[in-house]
Amino acid sequence: MAKLLLLTGASGNLGRWLAPALAARGYRLRLSDIAPFPDPLPEGASFIPADLADGPAVRALVEGTDAILHFGGISVEKPWDQIVGPNLIGVTHVFEAARTARQRVIFASSNHAIGFYPRGEDLDTTDPFRCDGYYGLSKAYGELLGRMMFDKHGVESVHIRIGSALPAPTEARHLATWLSLDDLLAALIAAVEAPETGCAVVWGASANAGTWWQGDDAARIGFVRRDDAARFAPLPESGDAITRRYQGGAFAAQDYSRGRPE
Ligand SMILES: NC(=O)c1ccc[n+]([C@@H]2O[C@H](COP(=O)([O-])OP(=O)(O)OC[C@H]3O[C@@H](n4cnc5c(N)ncnc54)[C@H](O)[C@@H]3O)[C@@H](O)[C@H]2O)c1
Repeated sequence: MAKLLLLTGASGNLGRWLAPALAARGYRLRLSDIAPFPDPLPEGASFIPADLADGPAVRALVEGTDAILHFGGISVEKPWDQIVGPNLIGVTHVFEAARTARQRVIFASSNHAIGFYPRGEDLDTTDPFRCDGYYGLSKAYGELLGRMMFDKHGVESVHIRIGSALPAPTEARHLATWLSLDDLLAALIAAVEAPETGCAVVWGASANAGTWWQGDDAARIGFVRRDDAARFAPLPESGDAITRRYQGGAFAAQDYSRGRPE
């Protein structure tokens, strides 16, 4: 029988694209979000509303599924008190439920966990986090939680450090950070189907000629990137000096109070 996947954040931008795309690839889906699912349900999908901050509700969502695609939560930079419930408590509930159900978690992490590295500096996934705000910090926490959950409890996870998941790149930074929606789908399918993942970290970026990111677990889980933002070049710069300096772009510039960049 086809695998049953839990997709949190189903009513969001990526969730609404992924739900029909995953259904078309033959997966059964349990969709969930705090907001209603605005589209017709794809074939083989159900929708269960839930707040990620509600532990028993998250446990019930996970029960009986084959893998968890965790996309729910706050997806932009916000003050700490708005991040903590959906992102920190939420991801902890997801991993605790995965531990009980012996499930794999595929986590929508973010480039904002390393957003304070300057643009152009090459990174691999073993480089230290340099979060560009509370949102990025919540993604670093999710990755560290996944590491602890594997080391201590054997809970497998794949952390996809998504750059800019868009139908097409629109600005110069995206020449490095773009993740085509087809490549996002390929990453998720690889993460679900890999016989073993351990705790894997994968750059959520296409095979961009202008990339700053290498040295990840993509090959180990069988994720092959196909697109390249270079075919859209040249693209315009956007934003102020801080936005243009850092890998996290506008998120790094938001609420920046240090004066001039280092
Ligand atoms: N789009 C990108 O380029 C990008 C880049 C990096 C990371 N990501 C990550 O991918 C995921 C999806 O991104 P998106 O662009 O679709 O974001 P989005 O904001 O459109 O979707 C997030 C969804 O999470 C839901 N949500 C928020 N709080 C919740 C709660 N307490 N309980 C249950 N659901 C809650 C929202 O209602 C929303 O539908 C997010 O985790 C985001 O951080 C996206």
